Amino acid sequence: MALWAVRSAQAQDVPPGVLQFLRRHEEEEAQHLKQFELLLGTSSHGKTALPRMPSQWRVLAVHLYGYETLGLEFARLLVRLRPDLASILEDEEVHVGFFEQEVRTMLVHGGPAADDTRQAAQAWRRRLPRTVDRYLHDESFAPFRDELRRHILDVIDTRFLLVGLLARN
Ligand SMILES: [Fe+2]
Repeated sequence: MALWAVRSAQAQDVPPGVLQFLRRHEEEEAQHLKQFELLLGTSSHGKTALPRMPSQWRVLAVHLYGYETLGLEFARLLVRLRPDLASILEDEEVHVGFFEQEVRTMLVHGGPAADDTRQAAQAWRRRLPRTVDRYLHDESFAPFRDELRRHILDVIDTRFLLVGLLARN
């Protein structure tokens, strides 16, 4: 779901175990993209410039975690329509789990490092509604757009709360 972000992230300074995961992750996302293109009869080969990703690992991890949680929700929607594509959902669950573990590790000792991680999550969360709107822009979403938008934001908030990235207010 986040092929370009994952590709771009590999150019950043990330821990060695993470780089290995990102390489495999990229292959899986590329495979998903191919499946989507076949499904929709479209192609995204026009995209050449990689998105700018944060260079600081803790900020980058929060971004990837966020985008993967978003991807997971879209994979859930997809699999309701196409149960035969369940492998995409399984991959996304693994991706989310990996970054969730990284984020937990960053938060576990508290202190300024944990505060920075939470700040990065809040900044990412503030931009999320616009991102979701972009993803739901297609006319086919129109009848359920508001409900879907609310649902996706709620799911991500709940996950961020449980993992300790956001505080209950
Ligand atoms: Fe993913």
